[in-house]
Amino acid sequence: MNNHTPYPKHDMDAILGGRRLRRNRRADWSRRLVRETKLTVDDLIWPIFLVDGTNVRQDVASLPGVQRLSVDQAVIEAERAAGYGIPALALFPFTEPSLRDPSGSEALNPDNLVCQACRAIKAAVPEIGLITDVALDPYTSHGHDGVMSGHVILNDESVAVLVGQALNQAAAGADVIAPSDMMDGRVGAIRQALDDQDMTDTQIMAYSAKYASAFYGPFRDAIGTSKTLIGDKRTYQMDFGNSDEAIREVELDIAEGADMIMVKPGMPYLDIVRRVKDEFAMPTFVYQVSGEYAMIQAAAQNGWIDGDRAIIEALSAFKRAGADGILTYFAPLVAPMLSR
Ligand code: PBG
Repeated sequence: MNNHTPYPKHDMDAILGGRRLRRNRRADWSRRLVRETKLTVDDLIWPIFLVDGTNVRQDVASLPGVQRLSVDQAVIEAERAAGYGIPALALFPFTEPSLRDPSGSEALNPDNLVCQACRAIKAAVPEIGLITDVALDPYTSHGHDGVMSGHVILNDESVAVLVGQALNQAAAGADVIAPSDMMDGRVGAIRQALDDQDMTDTQIMAYSAKYASAFYGPFRDAIGTSKTLIGDKRTYQMDFGNSDEAIREVELDIAEGADMIMVKPGMPYLDIVRRVKDEFAMPTFVYQVSGEYAMIQAAAQNGWIDGDRAIIEALSAFKRAGADGILTYFAPLVAPMLSR
């Protein structure tokens, strides 16, 4: 038996003066009424992985629930996405190793996997937006986003190839060109080239503040670069210690013609999302990357967290931080749970 007695009750009226924030939280209707931000289907961009062949679906061990899809299967999933009301897909290829070379020349092939998928999805599901990634890593034998000389990733030489890649994707029907390579000046060069080709309506979503992150691991498994990547990407992707630099990156990309900007990864960088949104008031996107997805899935599969609730909470936090939309592998899972 213990004889702990409660501390005498305080004079709560004196402390609170009637201000009790819990009043608004008492009932569900009230919590719904005062909720400041809300996740909807309109906030979702679904990244999907492509692989060669027909009727192929390949599991990715480090991304439970995510599969590489052949183009015909990607069309089926695009139809499903459109049915849910998901506004856009982002396409990423697993390129056959035999097609990879040091300069990433398959990126310029008008019949590469991404271009095939753009044409097939546009034909079958014209209402869904298509976002294509501009970076050479799925196509290079060394796994880097640009052209490599010795151990240096060359900036201006890379931009020349990236511009070709962007034009190739736009010609295949991509609505939004999304440079994720982090070379200096690529947004301006791509905008100029698109305009020169009369593709003035093609949008650019710049991966502006993209950090050199350990959270990209499972993505590299999915596109098959984990084993081939030589070194790391720290000479072009940002240092995770920096925040002011993100502002300068975003500022330059807007000046060069970006229509939308992105912060990546997501959850460890919510401070950057908020700063960028406040500073520029631009359409601002965030990428909940593969490692974030894998962490939530792993914990949920172990029964350590409630997966569905954690997913909605994490995605809602991006909205609260100021994001207008989220690239997330959870898109097809959460879409049916959300209102339009
Ligand atoms: C390619 C690219 C990467 C991601 C998107 N585009 C990987 C990288 O930079 O190495 C990562 C996405 C994810 O982890 O989900 N430049």
